[in-house]
Amino acid sequence: MRVHVADHPLITHKLTVLRDAQTPSPIFRALVEEIMTLLAYEGTRGVRVEPVDIITPVAPTTGVRIADPKPLIVPILRAGLGMLDGMVKLLPSAEVGFLGMARNEETLEPTTYAERLPDDLSDRQCFVLDPMLATGGSLIAAIEFLLARGATDVTAICILAAPEGLEAVEKAMFGREVTVVLGAVDEKLNEHGYIVPGLGDAGDRLYGTV
Ligand code: PRP
Ligand code: URA
Repeated sequence: MRVHVADHPLITHKLTVLRDAQTPSPIFRALVEEIMTLLAYEGTRGVRVEPVDIITPVAPTTGVRIADPKPLIVPILRAGLGMLDGMVKLLPSAEVGFLGMARNEETLEPTTYAERLPDDLSDRQCFVLDPMLATGGSLIAAIEFLLARGATDVTAICILAAPEGLEAVEKAMFGREVTVVLGAVDEKLNEHGYIVPGLGDAGDRLYGTV
């Protein structure tokens, strides 16, 4: 498994506003989308392309286009939905599948409550979006789900990670074709499974408490 942590002042600046408990939902949502677009640049470095011949106003040349089958973007509901527009902006030809997962706040175990994905993901390049990698349980379950459907190439894009969760994902994905792109790795997890300093509950800050 490969891990890439963005080290960019613009991301750190936007993350600082995102972390601030005083930042209201509309600004929080806009920032999640903006940070996603910046992370998408790094996360799509390995996107598959194929050659295409074109003619410029001056001369024929060969460029590239996104290869078939088109990549599949999989936001993890709820909070991953906040990242979708930022990703689609850079990869408009991608298809979108959905996985709904919720972490039991007592046991911290994830459960899958919804799924709308192609049955066969053989040869599909998949991009999983979830802002928070805390214990890693949700991300491991999501990636295992895609690999079990035949995906061979999975990139997960998360805004924040806890070192404990990142280690768990690395252990679970050892030897697999998986890349994790992160905005930042924080200090630790607290006793409630929250990332410290983190930003709180991403789903609640995006969409309100349910
Ligand atoms: C959050 C977050 C991740 C998960 C991370 O979702 O968006 O999916 O927790 O925690 P983990 O690494 O310990 O599994 P949550 O379950 O709160 O659902 P929500 O997006 O609907 O708020
Ligand atoms: N999920 C969140 O939304 N935030 C955390 O800090 C941990 C899990």
